[in-house]
Amino acid sequence: MPKIKKIGVLTGGGDAPGLNAVIRAVVKSAYNAGVEVVGLEDSFDGLVYPEKSRPLTPRDVTGILRLGGTILGTVNRGNPFIEPIVTPQGTFNYAERVVDMFGKMSLDALVCIGGDGTLAISYEFYKMGVPLVCVPKTIDNDIVGTTSCFGFDTAVDFATDAIDRLHSTAEAHKRVMVVEVMGRYTGWIALHSGVAGGADVILIPEIPYDVDKVAACIRDREGRGARFSIVVVAEGAQPVDGSRSLIEAAHGGHAERLGGAGALCAKQLEERAGKETRHVVLGHLQRGGTPTAFDRTLATRFGGKAVQLLLNGQFGKMVANHPPDLVPIPIGEVVGRTKTVPLDYDLLLTARAMGVSFGD
Ligand code: F6P
Repeated sequence: MPKIKKIGVLTGGGDAPGLNAVIRAVVKSAYNAGVEVVGLEDSFDGLVYPEKSRPLTPRDVTGILRLGGTILGTVNRGNPFIEPIVTPQGTFNYAERVVDMFGKMSLDALVCIGGDGTLAISYEFYKMGVPLVCVPKTIDNDIVGTTSCFGFDTAVDFATDAIDRLHSTAEAHKRVMVVEVMGRYTGWIALHSGVAGGADVILIPEIPYDVDKVAACIRDREGRGARFSIVVVAEGAQPVDGSRSLIEAAHGGHAERLGGAGALCAKQLEERAGKETRHVVLGHLQRGGTPTAFDRTLATRFGGKAVQLLLNGQFGKMVANHPPDLVPIPIGEVVGRTKTVPLDYDLLLTARAMGVSFGD
C-alpha cells in the first residue's frame, strides 16, 4: 500500500452546519499523522483552477469549530461530467482536468465532504482512479447507510425553536400557523421538529395529504376548545390530488428547487377550515449559524474516521454512523438512493398515537 503523504479536502453541495468541524478534524488528525493537507475551494473546482487551493495546517483551522458554512466554499450546481472548462491554457473536459491535476498536485487521496450530488460525483472520480473517502453531509438526513448526518440536528433545533415562537401568535390570535421546513423529498426535519415543537399536524412527502382531513383535524381541535393549530409542512409534501410545489424546474444538470408547499397548504386550510391562517417559510435559516454540540461531535468523528480510512488504504468508502460505531460503507451502495422516513418509524407511530394528524 503506497504511503499517504498529502491529501486534499473539499466540500460540495449545499452548506450544512458542521462542515468546518469536519475540515478541522481532517486537518488536525492528518497533521498529527505526518500528512500534509491541501484545502480545495468550491468543491472539485479546487483541483481545476490552481488559484483555488491552499495548504491547511492546524493554525488555519483554529477557531472554525463553531462556525457555520465552510471555509473552503462550495458549489451546488451542474454536472462536471458534461461541462467544459475554459482556462488561460485552453478548454478542457472538467473530469479529465480533475484527474490530471490530482496527479500534478502530488495528492495521494481526497476527503470529499458532501451530500448525494457530491457522493455521486466523487464515486465517478473514484472509478476514474482517484483514491478518496467521502463524508456524508446534509440537513435533510436523507443519505442511506448512515443513521445520521451532521447538520440535521442543528436544522431540527432551529425549526423547533421557530415552532415554539410561532405558538405565541397562534395562541394570541387563535390562528392556524403553517410552517414550511426543508428536507427535499423526505420528511425527517418536519417530523423531528414537528414532534419536538408539539405540532398538531405534520405533513411529509412520504404521506400525501388530504387537505379536507387536515381541515377536519383543525375543526375537531376547535370543537375541543383548542382555538389554534400548528401545522408543520415539509417542502416536499404534496396533496393527494396535486403535485409537489416547485420554485424552479430542473434544468441543465441543476436539480429542481422546491418551495411553496406551506403557502399552498395555508391557502387551502383557510378556505376549508374557515380559520385565519398564516404561513412562514424557514428556508436557509435552517442551514445557517453555529452547529449544535451533537453536530460538532459527529462532524469531528466523521473527519477523524475519514483520515483513518485513508491511512489504512480503505478508498471508495463513505463514513457511516452506525451507533455506537462509525463504519466504512462502499460509496457505490449509497449513490442514487434516498433514505425516506419509514412509515413504521417509531417517532411517526408515536406521534400518530398521540393524535398528531399526518393528513391521511
Ligand atoms: O439539501 C439541502 C437543502 O437545503 C434542501 O433541504 C433544499 O431543498 C435545498 O438544499 C435548497 O438548495 P439551494 O440552497 O440550492 O436552494
